[in-house]
Amino acid sequence: MTLKQRLPLLRWSFIRMGIGARHFSRTGQWGDGREAAAAAYVEAHARRGDLDDAIATLDKFAYEKSFLINIGDEKGALLDAAVTRANPRLALELGTYCGYGAMRIARAAPDARVFSVEFSPANAELARRVWTHAGVADRITCVVGTISDGGRTLDALAASGFATGGLDFLFLDHAKDAYLPDLQSLLERGWLHRGSIVVADNVKLPGSPRYLAYMRERRGAHWDTVEHKTHAEYQTLLPDLVLESKYLGDD
Ligand SMILES: C[S@@+](CC[C@H](N)C(=O)[O-])C[C@H]1O[C@@H](n2cnc3c(N)ncnc32)[C@H](O)[C@@H]1O
Repeated sequence: MTLKQRLPLLRWSFIRMGIGARHFSRTGQWGDGREAAAAAYVEAHARRGDLDDAIATLDKFAYEKSFLINIGDEKGALLDAAVTRANPRLALELGTYCGYGAMRIARAAPDARVFSVEFSPANAELARRVWTHAGVADRITCVVGTISDGGRTLDALAASGFATGGLDFLFLDHAKDAYLPDLQSLLERGWLHRGSIVVADNVKLPGSPRYLAYMRERRGAHWDTVEHKTHAEYQTLLPDLVLESKYLGDD
């Protein structure tokens, strides 16, 4: 890893995210075309039908071309291990972006059906292209919407087979202030079961304080949480926290 890769502040594509922040909150993209470039890069450089290579190629793009907000390789290893522990038949990700996290889930759980909810139709389209190239488009489904859109997305998931106690694994990686209310909406539907695992990225950076407080308050009662100290994606300067929480029921 070069100095530039270790220290994100030396990378223009990282600094550029400050300028693109408003664009990102409206569109889910940073406004300089990096997400479309990443999908095109996978199509041009990763071996078709090779899931490992698609994941590695997105990592390479994020390190060498333009910074991406995928969970990344370091935190991705934590995600993989949690998925393996959950051994899911049905997994849900909130926040698809370019499709990277969903591919890691699909790789760690080869028999699972994986759903990913994304509010940006443009990101959904790019992710589907990446999944098609990687050969996993038949196992990963992107639903365009949000959990808080008045039941539309929740109903679409229900129509796709989400039912009481059927959701084994949940990955929260979307709007940080939506982690807790969206988890509560999923609990209200009764889809999680005792033993379901929930992984939350970016709990320290940019941070999801209400979610963190909720999991700490309920430790041992309704949730059993491990706090993984790690780094934000694609660099080693900025610390981050990934929470892995096992549902103990009745919350
Ligand atoms: C950090 S990225 C997700 C990265 C992805 N999980 C991965 O590891 O490859 C966050 C994504 O969440 C999307 N997003 C933001 N708010 C959302 C919401 N309320 N519901 C669904 N998606 C949302 C953004 O458009 C963006 O694509």
